[in-house]
Amino acid sequence: MLKLTYHSHSCFSLSDGDKNIIIDPFLTDNPLAEIKREEVKVDAVLLTHGHGDHLGDGIDIAKANDALIIAPFELATYCEGKGAKVHAMHIGGSYDFPFGRVTLTIAHHGSGLPTENGIIYLGSPCGFVVRMDNKNIYHAGDTGLFYDMKLIGELYPLDLALLPIGGNFTMGIMEALKAVELLSPKAVIPMHYNTFDVIEQNPEDFTSRLPSSVSSKILKPGENYEF
Ligand code: NI
Ligand code: MN
Repeated sequence: MLKLTYHSHSCFSLSDGDKNIIIDPFLTDNPLAEIKREEVKVDAVLLTHGHGDHLGDGIDIAKANDALIIAPFELATYCEGKGAKVHAMHIGGSYDFPFGRVTLTIAHHGSGLPTENGIIYLGSPCGFVVRMDNKNIYHAGDTGLFYDMKLIGELYPLDLALLPIGGNFTMGIMEALKAVELLSPKAVIPMHYNTFDVIEQNPEDFTSRLPSSVSSKILKPGENYEF
């Protein structure tokens, strides 16, 4: 049994009862997050890209928990420079960690981090396929729709897909519905909406239009999905 918990935006934690991981922990300065970074207890922190609403509290959480940051090479190297323990990967690669297997997938997006001294480009953004407790979970990261999602669904038959629906920076609802068609996951949970005005969406407009073969759940921050 796996327990997924939504912490709003694109932040989810996953637990198999023994190991715990968190993806894109944007908690501080997130108006919807229901937990504080000090409350997070994890073995690994997965980061899809360097934008502030994904890198978020990742470095602080990793250091406080002596947890490993898993991220694309450039972002991992940046985090290492800030004192975190990291494991760098890149698109198409998989690696077996004590908690499970992680594969990096493409994401059509950016990964620059604005600083006082200008923007730092942190390489390619990614998505993740996490295999934990014999289940495949796809976290798309921030991305537009891409046809290769079909390959992801074929190579890593998905028990669950976490897809952005907010639009403006990522897929909106229409594109996310097409993504579900390409990925053919057993279940889908929408993310990356309603955190800011510019990504306001009604998630029911998404879930109500899914084919009946795909189950879905709209999670409120702090809610769990067990599968
Ligand atoms: Ni982004
Ligand atoms: Mn984002």
